[in-house]
Amino acid sequence: MHDKTKSLIEKLESEHHLELGEYEYLIAHRDQQAMDFAAERADCVRREIYGTDVYVRGLIEFSNYCKNDCLYCGIRRDNKNASRYRLTEEQILDCCAEGYELGFRTFVLQSGEDSYYTDEILCDLIGKIKKSFPDCALTLSIGEKSRESYQAYFDAGADRYLLRHETASPAHYAKLHPGSMSFLNRIQCLYDLHEIGYQVGCGFMVGSPYQTPRTLAEDMMFIERFRPEMCGIGPFIPHKDTPFRNEPAGTLEETLYLLSLLRLLQPNLLLPATTALGTINPLGREMGAKAGANVVMPNLSPTNVRKKYMLYDNKICTGDESAQCRHCLDLRMESVGYQVVVSRGDIIRK
Ligand code: 5AD
Ligand code: FES
Repeated sequence: MHDKTKSLIEKLESEHHLELGEYEYLIAHRDQQAMDFAAERADCVRREIYGTDVYVRGLIEFSNYCKNDCLYCGIRRDNKNASRYRLTEEQILDCCAEGYELGFRTFVLQSGEDSYYTDEILCDLIGKIKKSFPDCALTLSIGEKSRESYQAYFDAGADRYLLRHETASPAHYAKLHPGSMSFLNRIQCLYDLHEIGYQVGCGFMVGSPYQTPRTLAEDMMFIERFRPEMCGIGPFIPHKDTPFRNEPAGTLEETLYLLSLLRLLQPNLLLPATTALGTINPLGREMGAKAGANVVMPNLSPTNVRKKYMLYDNKICTGDESAQCRHCLDLRMESVGYQVVVSRGDIIRK
């Protein structure tokens, strides 16, 4: 590790701010010592705020229909090999009930951008979930909507919203998405969500095609400015039925390093050890926790649809019952000295 790398990691920890070129330097000069040093500092910072707690969110993938055509994503509209499904309101409520029994106190409803679910249907569903499980936080992850729709879901009881920004570089964004999708609209959505009062999660893939240390530095700068409650990052993994089928996957090492840098940038950030991280390495989520992650999001979807929500190849946990995933993650987190806790898992503000 160069002296400059070490001093930049120390500066990030103490000032929670770097210049664009400094982030770029840190990311471009990653070596084993830098990774180890960043992870050690990140774990220390995380323990000061969250101790050894790991928050758990139950992920319900309720529809894989999508009107968008993101070049990296397995459920893109143009993928004619995807077998499409939608869960009924009853099925979704059953998933929540099963999750509640298993100790989940927060549910994430995720889907492709599926206009079958009108605002009326969604608000009704949100109301029913909040009424049945008043002590639970409800998170939506259903893509870009109008500000009015976001407001309606919030008024119906939704607490949180996940919408990865995917990349903070407009030029990079244009290489990952069809011309019909707009970078500015996506960023506007994130600001709308925050203004309405949601706790917001943004995020990006690590190692996506055309990503550079510079675009990653822009992601870090965006997170500094936006100050999300959560930031979801995981390696890009190619999907066989997408234009990026032959692109290399993102690496475990770079993902772990960025998790650590994000922890140092914003100490109280909710940082998931993602399913994609567990997919590129069998111990990816454990290593993610050690590098600074403090959230896991096991799958609560019905087993018979899990294989259909394939954003990327070889996704793990598609054959497991919800109870198995919950138990499995308990053991995995314990194996590296952390505990999954039963709680809403709100961000801690000091
Ligand atoms: N590899 C890794 N992550 C992916 N996502 C979509 N496709 C892939 C892929 N091929 C991520 C995107 C999206 C989130 C739900 O999943 O970042 O926002
Ligand atoms: Fe699903 Fe381990 S988390 S089986």
